[in-house]
Amino acid sequence: MKFFVDTADIEAIRELNELGMVDGVTTNPSLILKSGRDILEVTKEICDIVTGPVSAEVIALEAEDMISEGRRLAEIADNIVVKVPLTWDGLKACKTLTDEGRMVNVTLCFSANQALLAAKAGATFISPFIGRLDDINLDGLQLISDIREIYDNYGYETQVLAASIRTANHMSDCAKLGADVATAPPGVIKAMVNHVLTDKGLDAFVADAKKAGIKIV
Ligand code: E4P
Repeated sequence: MKFFVDTADIEAIRELNELGMVDGVTTNPSLILKSGRDILEVTKEICDIVTGPVSAEVIALEAEDMISEGRRLAEIADNIVVKVPLTWDGLKACKTLTDEGRMVNVTLCFSANQALLAAKAGATFISPFIGRLDDINLDGLQLISDIREIYDNYGYETQVLAASIRTANHMSDCAKLGADVATAPPGVIKAMVNHVLTDKGLDAFVADAKKAGIKIV
């Protein structure tokens, strides 16, 4: 499973990228707001750091305007993925932009039917939002499983990009369900390393190494 980092925080991207943990980046208007930066400027900086796909989201609501914004965003770098919302206009923009050879991520997906439409429109990535479904007592992981099954039934090449990930467990759950990509905030990716038995075991090894007077270099 590819790891995308869901942030526009340059330092966080740089840190994880140096460890080989970043196969791509996703942003959205809320993350751009959080960064306090200009969208074109910060997205360019991200593309200079990361070689994998970098999603930048349009803000227009009508297809023609989304297409113009998508073309402008795609000029930033070759690895830009234009992110459009899962509306009828978003699907129109997706079809036009992918026909032009651009990568498109269809976002705000909350149902298998929506994912089916995105695949028909030629989306490069579909972004089902797990956490926001869980927030309203629906089953976000079940949606990942349903989309995986449907895409596999018909050989759709659209990649399942599990989004709105809130916990480290979501990451392994998505991997078990066969998501192609999971995008998560830096804190969630970092939390994946934690295990109480690792900490406990390490404490014991450190204490025993001290008692044994072990010195390696
Ligand atoms: C995905 O591309 C979105 O940017 C993101 O995963 C949304 O996550 P949230 O529901 O935690 O805001």
